Amino acid sequence: MNRTPLIAGNWKMNGLSDALGFFSALAGAGASTRHCDILVCPPATLLSVAAMRAAEHGYLVGGQDCHTEASGANTGDLSAEMLRDAGAAFVIVGHSERRADHGESDALVRAKALAARRGGLVPIICVGESLEDREAGKADAVVGAQIAGSVPESLSATDYVLAYEPVWAIGTGRTASTDDIATMHAFIRASRPDGDAVRILYGGSVKPGIAEQILSLDDVDGALVGGASLDPSSFAAIAKASHS
Ligand code: 13P
Repeated sequence: MNRTPLIAGNWKMNGLSDALGFFSALAGAGASTRHCDILVCPPATLLSVAAMRAAEHGYLVGGQDCHTEASGANTGDLSAEMLRDAGAAFVIVGHSERRADHGESDALVRAKALAARRGGLVPIICVGESLEDREAGKADAVVGAQIAGSVPESLSATDYVLAYEPVWAIGTGRTASTDDIATMHAFIRASRPDGDAVRILYGGSVKPGIAEQILSLDDVDGALVGGASLDPSSFAAIAKASHS
């Protein structure tokens, strides 16, 4: 199955308007979309200008979260339709930081994934176990349950992207071993109908030095990159590693 790699950056709550030179710097560092899709999810405040700058180089932009409704009395929230209107093509839903800090349940993540489709966006649905779960031998059970609860059955394989982000690997400089990543990605693929066509990203301390090893695994179709996506040369190096 031919799955175009997706190299996605999640800027989280980082970036002021002076960060908008990122896209030309990324192009200058040689990040080419010939062999992979390149996506940046900046804070929503930068989205519409970022979309224009990104488009000049064939890069895509996305949101980091969306509400389930299209509009309404939801102070401070953003809908998928609004993100799309600002130029987004994707939206991250169910990131572990939102699951932990905002109490997001699988059912809510599922509703957000459906909202993303309604708004014309591709949801990147995040799953991942805690260190406690992994050490208790429950990683598969936890991730399996998150997938069962968070991925709408109605979505076809190319309507969404999955991201496996073990919570203990996020922002810690500690990546999962390639064996653990390969095993979990194969498990995730097998858990979905049409799993062969679903793009499954790995996230958690992906850095240029280890990107090639991770991205060359059969069931890894790209990366969801936090810290290293803030630096154009690091992010470009990761994009290049997807087709080396
Ligand atoms: P880091 O790459 O900083 O570990 O963040 C990963 C992440 O959470 C991407 O969504």
